[in-house]
Amino acid sequence: MSTPTQDKKLTPPDLMARKGGVPIVALTAYTAPMARLLDGIADLLLIGDSLGMVIYGFESTLPVTLEMMIAHGGAVARQSKHACVIVDMPFASYQESPVQAFRNAARIMAETGAAGVKLEGGEAMADTIRFLVERGIPVLGHVGLQPQSVHALGGYRAQGSDPDVARRILADARAVAGAGAFAIVVEGTAEPVAREVTASVPVPTIGIGASPSCDGQILVSEDMLGLSDMRKPRFVKRYAELGTELKAAAALYAEEVRGRRFPAPEHCYGVKS
Ligand code: KIV
Repeated sequence: MSTPTQDKKLTPPDLMARKGGVPIVALTAYTAPMARLLDGIADLLLIGDSLGMVIYGFESTLPVTLEMMIAHGGAVARQSKHACVIVDMPFASYQESPVQAFRNAARIMAETGAAGVKLEGGEAMADTIRFLVERGIPVLGHVGLQPQSVHALGGYRAQGSDPDVARRILADARAVAGAGAFAIVVEGTAEPVAREVTASVPVPTIGIGASPSCDGQILVSEDMLGLSDMRKPRFVKRYAELGTELKAAAALYAEEVRGRRFPAPEHCYGVKS
């Protein structure tokens, strides 16, 4: 199967120009090898704070620190020649004030080489988004289900079946677009609401468990590759079962070691016996 690849480095304005056009292919990446493998296949690589669960084994994204995001963001940005690399701002690194958000976003940009940051929140974050954008920091918005507010939401529930919540999501998306975000992630949102959001904002929407009408889709790579041993969200299609293959390879290795079928000495670091 041939894989379409990007040959130029995509920027936030390139992605913004994809509104209503060829859908944006977005995936998460947290490490250098994953970035090398996915670069050019994905248009956008997100160092999501989902790394808290996927890589660090936390229960939620709340314990993720700025230092973790910078370390993983730098690893991915250094290995991405084509994809637009965006780093999530972790919980409590931007909600306090626009100035706090700028200070931390500027560190992310300077220390990772990423093209922009993502932050969760709608109307309440519009002033902060405008503050960052006016100071040269591209922002990817994130509305609908916002995992950093999991306790306030009472769990990871799809959003928008209640008309008041649907109205709020629409107002949030408009506020985020009006504040200058170059695109908006719409997470866990009832399909008709995600569709209406997409029709109502002038920037691309990137859905996750939202709607095929969105201008693109993002998935956690480990979920779609079958590499995660955690419960898979219902909306995720598995494109491979790499976890099963990984276990089979490790079991084969274990069998060979236990059977003393080690490599012959001439294969060890090229040393001749
Ligand atoms: O943290 C994350 O990985 C995300 C995406 C899945 C949208 O926010």
